[in-house]
Order: sequence, then structure tokens, then C-alpha cells
Amino acid sequence: MTSLQAETPSGALPAPIVTTPRCYLRPYDPRDAPAASSLANDAEVVRFLRDRFPHPYTLDDSHAFIKSTLEAKPVLDFAVFATPNGDCAGEFAGGMGLTPGRDVQSRTWELGYWIGQKFWGQGIATMAVKAFARWAFQTFPELHRLEAEVYHMNAGSIRVLEKAGFTKDGVRRGAACKKGVVMDVHVYGLLRDELGGLE
Ligand SMILES: CC(C)(COP(=O)(O)OP(=O)(O)OC[C@H]1O[C@@H](n2cnc3c(N)ncnc32)[C@H](O)[C@@H]1OP(=O)(O)O)[C@@H](O)C(=O)NCCC(=O)NCCS
Repeated sequence: MTSLQAETPSGALPAPIVTTPRCYLRPYDPRDAPAASSLANDAEVVRFLRDRFPHPYTLDDSHAFIKSTLEAKPVLDFAVFATPNGDCAGEFAGGMGLTPGRDVQSRTWELGYWIGQKFWGQGIATMAVKAFARWAFQTFPELHRLEAEVYHMNAGSIRVLEKAGFTKDGVRRGAACKKGVVMDVHVYGLLRDELGGLE
């Protein structure tokens, strides 16, 4: 057992911050680490993410990330749990988080997310993004704009953002390079004022 694993607590799990018919989000708990590393250790997931998302994704990577999320003030990264058939315990399905911008863009926060492959196509990301965006604007009064950057070939994520009410603000041509492949980055935004029009 590593030093990180030794810190695993017992007792109640953190309470959900948002609940939808298909999933809920709550702060991470060290007990999520095995499920998180198992789902995150997937080339099909990582190819759409930044290089700082480790690959392979080990149990220690998972423990280190979860520890960092719990030390953050405020906590801005959350675990997504699938709740098929209204199962209130749920099953770890992925992650979603916010990164505040800096300087004059401090009121623009980046939204990031991933869902494990076995949960794809169940509407989980769409519901989670919609509910999490609402929670973010309600929780952080200073937040003015949520932003997401998507690689041009990530049709699933583009669809998620569009269904969640984000607007495509532009394309940063050739802005990203992963494994030697240059990609366009599509920039999506959702402003606080636009939240009212969403269901
Ligand atoms: C992108 C991702 C979050 C989608 O999660 P999901 O829970 O499967 O998404 P949903 O089930 O809510 O699907 C939303 C829509 O996208 C569509 N979609 C999903 N995957 C798709 C794909 N590969 N190609 C085309 N459309 C796709 C769905 O059909 C659905 O549209 P519809 O309701 O009109 O049928 C998930 O595939 C993922 O985590 N991928 C790897 C990491 C990643 O890309 N993160 C986002 C980085 S910007």
C-alpha cells in the first residue's frame, strides 16, 4: 500500500452538489480512486484531453489527483456518478471540474469533463454539464462566463456543449498538438445571462 492509499478514510461519503435523473456530482473521496483510475486509464478517453491527464492512469495518479481536489479552496473538481434506474448509491462514471481564469479573464472559468467509456451514450455528460453549469453560476457570483475548449474531431463533446446551451465562439485553428497530430480547438462559451433561457 502506498502512502497515498494509506490515507483512505471511512465514514460517510461527501454529499452531492447536484442531482439529475441520470447522475449526480459530489466531491471526490479517496475511496473513489480505484474506480476512477480504472475508467480513466483508457486511450479513448485520454485522446480528447490535455496531456496533463496521465496515460497510463495509475491508482497512485488517482489518489494524488483526488488529494489535490480535496485540498483546493474552494473545491472545484467533482466526481460524476451514474444512477441508472434511480439507484441512489450510483456508480463512479467520470469527472467534471472548473479552472478559474487569470488576470482580466478571472471571471471566465474553464469547464472540463470526462465520462468513462462504459457510460457513454446514456445522456450523462449532457445532464451533468447542464446541472453543473447552473450550480457554478449560483455558487460563484463572480463567475461571468463558462468556457470549454474542444478538439475539432470530438463530436460527442461538441454535441454535449450545444445541448447544454453553450455557443461556439470561434475556432483556434491548429492550436493544439497531441501525439504529433495538430488539431483545431473549438471554443464554446456560456454567459451567466444565458442561463435563464435554458430548461
Ligand atoms: C464527450 C463525452 C463527455 C460524452 O459523454 P456522454 O455521456 O456519452 O454524452 P451524452 O450521452 O450526454 O451524449 C450527448 C450527445 O452527443 C452524442 N454523441 C456522443 N458521443 C458521440 C460521438 N462519438 N460522435 C457523435 N455524437 C456523439 C450523443 O448521441 C448525444 O447526442 P443526441 O442526444 O443528439 O443523440 C464522453 O464521450 C467523454 O468523456 N469522452 C472523452 C473525454 C472528453 O472528450 N471530454 C471532453 C473534452 S472537451
